[in-house]
Amino acid sequence: MPERPSQQHGLFDPSAQSDEAEGPVVPSRIRTVYAFHQPRELTEAQREKFRKMSRDSREARRSALAGEGPEPIHEINVPNYRPLDFMPLREGGTLSSLSLFSGGGGLDLGVERAGFTHTASFELMDEAGDTLRKARSDWTVYSGDDEGDVRGIDFKPWRGKVDLLHGGPPCQPFSNAGRQQGHLDERDMWPQFVRAVKEIRPAAFIGENVPALASPKFSEYVSENIVAPLSGSYHIEQVILQASDFGVPQLRRRVFFVGFRTKKMANAWKAPEPTHFWGDASTAGGQKCMGLRQALGLPDIGVDDLSPTIRSSLTGPRHTTSILNSVAAQRKFESLEVWPNGVAADRAAARAFVAKHGHFRLSVPDVALIQGFPEDWPFVGATYMALGQIGNAVPPPLAYAVASSVLDAFSK
Ligand SMILES: C[S@@+](CC[C@H](N)C(=O)[O-])C[C@H]1O[C@@H](n2cnc3c(N)ncnc32)[C@H](O)[C@@H]1O
Repeated sequence: MPERPSQQHGLFDPSAQSDEAEGPVVPSRIRTVYAFHQPRELTEAQREKFRKMSRDSREARRSALAGEGPEPIHEINVPNYRPLDFMPLREGGTLSSLSLFSGGGGLDLGVERAGFTHTASFELMDEAGDTLRKARSDWTVYSGDDEGDVRGIDFKPWRGKVDLLHGGPPCQPFSNAGRQQGHLDERDMWPQFVRAVKEIRPAAFIGENVPALASPKFSEYVSENIVAPLSGSYHIEQVILQASDFGVPQLRRRVFFVGFRTKKMANAWKAPEPTHFWGDASTAGGQKCMGLRQALGLPDIGVDDLSPTIRSSLTGPRHTTSILNSVAAQRKFESLEVWPNGVAADRAAARAFVAKHGHFRLSVPDVALIQGFPEDWPFVGATYMALGQIGNAVPPPLAYAVASSVLDAFSK
């Protein structure tokens, strides 16, 4: 009998509850556009339940957009949060960067704002590559199976041409929301990141991932697969940072491995200090971070808070337009009167499609803002694909803080 869908992953998916787990497993009819998407093993009855839900919600959205639904309640929001203000452009001179596993460009944007000149990005997904090209027509972007798959690239020609190599290999092998199979998971790309560092020999590197990779469960993995192969040539530091400490209106922790070829630079490096705080002003320094409602420019309802961690719609077993990843997150969104499912393509569509309880329906540009992307970052693809790129990203202001700290080490 197949595993019950709601137990297979830690992801919260209320719709996955099913009484229909009996019967043979049938393949998904959804075209898998994301190479590492792993569809659930479901019976025909279970699949039909999902299909019906999709049909119903498509029909509800269609009729709302045709003006047949309830009268819109909310005005179109005008956000207060402007991420570029949190990443003042720095001057890095001739220092160059190369990006692996670039996704929709969160890390790339933060590194660029910190002053590094982009030389190339490598990314498997075509749509993410298109996002990068659309955002920066002068960037060299290799994407898709043929040109963007890091596994097939010989990086030696880049040796001597890159000062900072950076990348966030897929986090699914380590994430609490996944099966945490580490090196047994075919999506584990850390060996490729390490190979690229060895072939390119940059002066510095930044490798990013979910904080679970820094947990005791993976300490052996990290020492054997990241530290041991590189520690002969690099001084490696590890730091876990919280996005809201850098002004992003979301709770999102990430681990960064920062490596330097020279001891001088390693000694000069200082981990980024928080610039913002949420909570008690008397015990914190810096400026107060905006809450989710303030950031999105929503009316004052007497409560505000940081957004729960948003999830990528590509990492679960189904491609969805929900950014919800836990029951706790659902409660938090409810208390903020924000609706995290059925995210709309744009603000006009979000306004037209009235959400349950009259809560504020999110749109792609709103979710991008919660993740620290500027309004005009042009995510390419259908709504779930844009949300996937957003949810996979390092919030650019957080990436900026780390890249800035590396730039400072170059300058000393
Ligand atoms: C966690 S996301 C990176 C997000 C990115 N750092 C950002 O801030 O926006 C990992 C990315 O690696 C890509 N990827 C996975 N395997 C790859 C491979 N073999 N070669 C190139 N890219 C790959 C995925 O498509 C995904 O976009």
